[in-house]
Amino acid sequence: MTDQFHVVLYEKFKTFFDEAEQKRRWNPLRDIPWDEINPDTPESAAICAETFLGVESYLPDYIKGGLEAVRASSVAQRWFTANWGYEELKHSIVLTEYLVRSGKRTEEQMFDFQAKLMEEHWERPFESARRMSIYGMFQEMATFVIYVRQEKAALRYEDKALATIYRTIARDEIAHARFYEDVTRVYLSEDREGTVADLAHVAKHFRMPGVGIVPDYEDRISVMREEGAVDRDLFLKKVYFPLLKRLGVTRHELVKAAAAERRARRDADAAE
Ligand SMILES: [Fe+2]
Ligand SMILES: [Fe+2]
Repeated sequence: MTDQFHVVLYEKFKTFFDEAEQKRRWNPLRDIPWDEINPDTPESAAICAETFLGVESYLPDYIKGGLEAVRASSVAQRWFTANWGYEELKHSIVLTEYLVRSGKRTEEQMFDFQAKLMEEHWERPFESARRMSIYGMFQEMATFVIYVRQEKAALRYEDKALATIYRTIARDEIAHARFYEDVTRVYLSEDREGTVADLAHVAKHFRMPGVGIVPDYEDRISVMREEGAVDRDLFLKKVYFPLLKRLGVTRHELVKAAAAERRARRDADAAE
């Protein structure tokens, strides 16, 4: 990568960090109106909160995988990942606090849940820093869309505490998505063709991080669908196409890149 790559990314990181310090720092124990939990909020909302907590809780694996992916790439990406881990941690804290303070779960159940989660590992889905950055961009944006929908559901239940939780988490997630988007833009300016190929590749293989590792995921998803989870259609409509548009990447470029990848795979198979 060029010097320009490092300089531009470091500037992006500083802007991200400065804005986070100035506008986005919050305390999960103090900044939620805990006395405005609605005791009548249904169990389905608790299952959603618990499932998101489950996904957020593979943080050790995300930090490890994320840092390994960007370790040799740039200082900005390494420092972002460290800061990102701290922000994500608060999402786990606040969801745990909600489940316990609302009486939906006991503290003991939460410890048991955490132990069960850690029986599985999240493996990072892509090797390179570039693909992991693109994955991060899609994943954070999808997570943002999910939390905004959950905020609306919480408002319908007139649970102000839960609505505040989702609104606050969503604000972090969109900031993460925007940083990864900036990184992707820098990658595009360095190597447009290669980055477009990675965009096509990551989109094709994309799935949310909790799939298959959070206990009872399928049952949980069926509850969450009723509450408005993100399926493939919604992913394309709310995440993929809007991001392509923001990046100025055309569908034509992506189709070309996907065809080139198929050709390369065929050639590699033929050479074996
Ligand atoms: Fe999060
Ligand atoms: Fe995030």
